[in-house]
Amino acid sequence: MRTVIHLDSEEFPKYFYNALPDLPEKIPPYLDPETNKPVSSKKLELLFPKEIVNQEFSEERFIPIPEELRDIYINLLKRPRPLVRARYLENYLNLNNRIRIYYKREDLSPTGSHKPNTAIAQLYYANKDNASLVTTETGAGQWGSAVAFSSSVFNIKAEIYMVKVSYEQKPLRRILMQLFNAAVYPSPSANTKTGKAFIKKGEMNGSLGIAISEAVEAAITKRGKYVLGSVLNAVLAHQTIIGEETIKQLQDIDEEPTDVIACFGGGSNFGGLILPFYREYFVKKKRFINLIAAEPSEVPSLSKGEYKYDYGDTAGLTPLLKMYTLGKDFIPPPIYAGGLRYHGASPLLSLLRKHNIIKPRAHDEQESRRAAEIFARTEGIVPAPETSHAIAAAIDRAIELKKKGEEGTIIIGFSGHGLLDLTFYEGKYGN
Ligand SMILES: Cc1ncc(COP(=O)(O)O)c(C=O)c1O
Repeated sequence: MRTVIHLDSEEFPKYFYNALPDLPEKIPPYLDPETNKPVSSKKLELLFPKEIVNQEFSEERFIPIPEELRDIYINLLKRPRPLVRARYLENYLNLNNRIRIYYKREDLSPTGSHKPNTAIAQLYYANKDNASLVTTETGAGQWGSAVAFSSSVFNIKAEIYMVKVSYEQKPLRRILMQLFNAAVYPSPSANTKTGKAFIKKGEMNGSLGIAISEAVEAAITKRGKYVLGSVLNAVLAHQTIIGEETIKQLQDIDEEPTDVIACFGGGSNFGGLILPFYREYFVKKKRFINLIAAEPSEVPSLSKGEYKYDYGDTAGLTPLLKMYTLGKDFIPPPIYAGGLRYHGASPLLSLLRKHNIIKPRAHDEQESRRAAEIFARTEGIVPAPETSHAIAAAIDRAIELKKKGEEGTIIIGFSGHGLLDLTFYEGKYGN
């Protein structure tokens, strides 16, 4: 029985999978916040690297990964990454080989999460545009660390707006970003008009929505490029290298998944894992498997949100996207899983949710932390607070299958480690 399934470097994908041609219907257009009409690519190119805008609307199913970039994925990001059978967790849950659990180790990236998969691509394309500055926001600090690291690879300046509550909860992440030469500001900050307005209103915690507004404003006023860690089709496409590798790894050991589970903030690690499974099972084989989005019950955008046009940020500077949303003004409670504190969701994944192809499951912070403790004590790896939601959903599903006497093969997207989030395990919030 193989517990750790590796791939060779030549097996690393040559393409990003773009799911747009395989969707049950077209994604409604993104609307310009100034005119309420479909936003033009030209306008988006003022903000994003040109190739990112091309990829966002591309109808090409497979987008070639430039050889230079592929080399970076293999030699710097050290891909492909292992898929691991969670045998010690299975034993703890008494699953008797009838229900098997595997996890895909994105925690092994240089900064500890799946985020460098898209950060490195976006910085690669920003560098092709001769950008000298990129701006972004970060919640937990995982995305910010990935951008800081990728910017240092291309020698581009990075300005990062970190949600204030996370800035205070996670000084180690801030130090990591600064180590990679990034300028890090708590958001709301006094650097931007938007930030100043929220400070004046007495906003203390901040939110991803506000931090996005600040980063977009800074990119526009300083003529930099804005990079986004989730939500966009292009970002999901970069992350599909996770799912493509996992499919190969399962084929190598003759396993067929029944459940594929990942946590859901804006949808990038979830989409990256499940979209290749969607293509192989739903589109090609016309076969149903469970694609489960694990979200926090405190920020239940997919389970309780409304499918409608909304802004991606709080100040209303970004295009309007048709998505499941709790409303741009929703300020989430200060849960530790900062990367899941987002009011909206990827428009592509929102469409799959509308068609009942993906299913949300919500767990609160305490349930997730308990599941993560079990995982750490059995498998020896500490999950990031975000990832702990996927662990909670997977343990729940395993117990459900066991009670029904059914067999199952559960795949978890292990999106990141929590070694810089250890205070999460102190039980500071909840308990
Ligand atoms: C470890 C980890 N997992 C998941 C997420 C959620 O983001 P997404 O839904 O885009 O994967 C984040 C976001 O910061 C994260 O840091």
